[in-house]
Amino acid sequence: MGVSIARSHRCCSLRNPFARALLLTIVMFAVGGMFLRSDMDVRSALLKTAASAREAMSMQKPLGWEGRVEAPPEQDGSSTAEEAPTTVSNSSHVMTCDYDMERFKKWRDLYHLQDTFEYAKRYVQVTRQDIPRKSVTELDQDFLVDAVKVVDVNKQYQGEKCPEPLVVPVTKSPFPSTANASDFMFGVSTTYKRFTDPRTSPINEWSYWLTDSKGNSNGGKLVLMLLDASDDELADAYNKLANIGIDVDVYRSDPSLIMAVRYLALAPQMYNHPDRVNKKWLVICDDDTFFPSFHALADKLAEYDHEKPMYIGTFSEDVNNIQRHGSQAFGGAGVFLSVPMAKLVAEKYESCKTEDKIREANTGWGPQGDILLRKCIYENSEVKLTLLNDLWQLDLFGDPSGFYESGIKPLSLHHYRGGIWHIAHPWHYTKVAHVCGEDCTLQRFQTADNFIISNGFSVAYYPNGIDFDLGQFEATFHAAPENKGWNLDFRMGPQRPSLHKTGRKISWDLQDATLNEDGSVSQIYVCKHDDWRWKNPDGTPMIDLDGIIELVWLPER
Ligand SMILES: *[C@@H]1O[C@H](CO)[C@@H](O)[C@H](O)[C@H]1NC(C)=O
Ligand SMILES: *[C@@H]1O[C@H](CO)[C@@H](O)[C@H](O)[C@H]1NC(C)=O
Repeated sequence: MGVSIARSHRCCSLRNPFARALLLTIVMFAVGGMFLRSDMDVRSALLKTAASAREAMSMQKPLGWEGRVEAPPEQDGSSTAEEAPTTVSNSSHVMTCDYDMERFKKWRDLYHLQDTFEYAKRYVQVTRQDIPRKSVTELDQDFLVDAVKVVDVNKQYQGEKCPEPLVVPVTKSPFPSTANASDFMFGVSTTYKRFTDPRTSPINEWSYWLTDSKGNSNGGKLVLMLLDASDDELADAYNKLANIGIDVDVYRSDPSLIMAVRYLALAPQMYNHPDRVNKKWLVICDDDTFFPSFHALADKLAEYDHEKPMYIGTFSEDVNNIQRHGSQAFGGAGVFLSVPMAKLVAEKYESCKTEDKIREANTGWGPQGDILLRKCIYENSEVKLTLLNDLWQLDLFGDPSGFYESGIKPLSLHHYRGGIWHIAHPWHYTKVAHVCGEDCTLQRFQTADNFIISNGFSVAYYPNGIDFDLGQFEATFHAAPENKGWNLDFRMGPQRPSLHKTGRKISWDLQDATLNEDGSVSQIYVCKHDDWRWKNPDGTPMIDLDGIIELVWLPER
């Protein structure tokens, strides 16, 4: 069953060539692999600063100008953290609003903030109810109840009493830890370098949708093909994944196969795997494919007949890419093959990867694995692609906020590792789902004072009010290389105009989130004063200081 695989860089959803691989199952007992923290790429270009303040709603003033005060100075010799008044919330969690200068210094260094920046902290009390998921939930509370505090990392401040929590109704959607992925096997082909580089390593992301986030497998099987890996490196990859609970087999890719063929080879690789007998769906993914809501994904797939040959996926959002590459599943969004479908590809594999087929799969951008797979299926059966449009390839350029702030519940995400694409932190975005259920990731909550929390992604403030259609995507992103202005409309609908550089919007974007021991989740949203997006129409910045908003989500009792 020596099959091959692998994959490497590509541009614009291209898969490049190489050759075939013999597998080499690495059987090893996990020994002390450490799990790499995903790199906290600060998207330096995008960050923004913040200011806040509803006083500033009186407008035409720089945001935050009037609505902020310096944090209360420390009193003689007292240690602020210990003296901070605490409040017990309804969920009996202790709420603390102190000024831990070590954290502040850490943030300054990580996010390249000024020494003096704005800081606001708010607790959010979740109430799980029998309600449907809404794209936007309007709250009658204000987001800002106190003036925003200005802190200087070189000083010490006295702790304060926390404001009442925001109370947020959410659905009773399931928690990520209870997902059951037993019906699925995932195949990914990448390089050892990408696997280990903190900027591209998928380890944390995989821990979200392949484990219960407590170190145990959720039943999902991962077949990982690594290119350019020594025996030690294969073992290292295995240990890193097995140690965090991922059920994985690691194989070496055949370096003689071109990338497109390494991609196609994932189908026979998975089909020939002994665990396949217990699976319903064999899923071909990229190393930057992420499934934020596994319960919803599994429920959706359960609607299809896995005993029939099924080829399920989605198009690129950019109609140009369909014209260029053809009508097929664009693989970064995830391609779901039923076992009978994978069987056919495995049987026809040799004839699907001939020199002729590789040439036919070259659209002028190099041979495409997605095209090889489509041709293999279409030329050997009557099966056609089943579109599942809650999967997202995300062939978008520019600021991705308009997508992540749209209130949708995507079943997959892709292209979030930068390079020519956007940078996003889906592992952090989904942390809050551990408190409020998977529906609540990227769900929007609008406060009375014109803030919108796009949960996990951003907190945005609209100083002139919210007088636009929240049902439409904001066109913060665009198609490329050829932007006709409507490339994305077939998929996303026409998009409302971007609020960049209008003075009408400013956002704090999530950079980090932590699941705390008491079951709460802390989110750190960052805004930089020199963010290119948050300018007034005359080009002046909307705010003069960097800023951090910290939200702490409290579970129900
Ligand atoms: C706390 O509980 C009281 C009484 O049950 C309720 O009126 C109030 O709204 C709750 N507050 C929060 C923050 O949940
Ligand atoms: C997970 O799903 C599999 C297959 O559908 C089933 O056999 C198993 O009992 C489920 N496990 C749990 C813990 O529900």
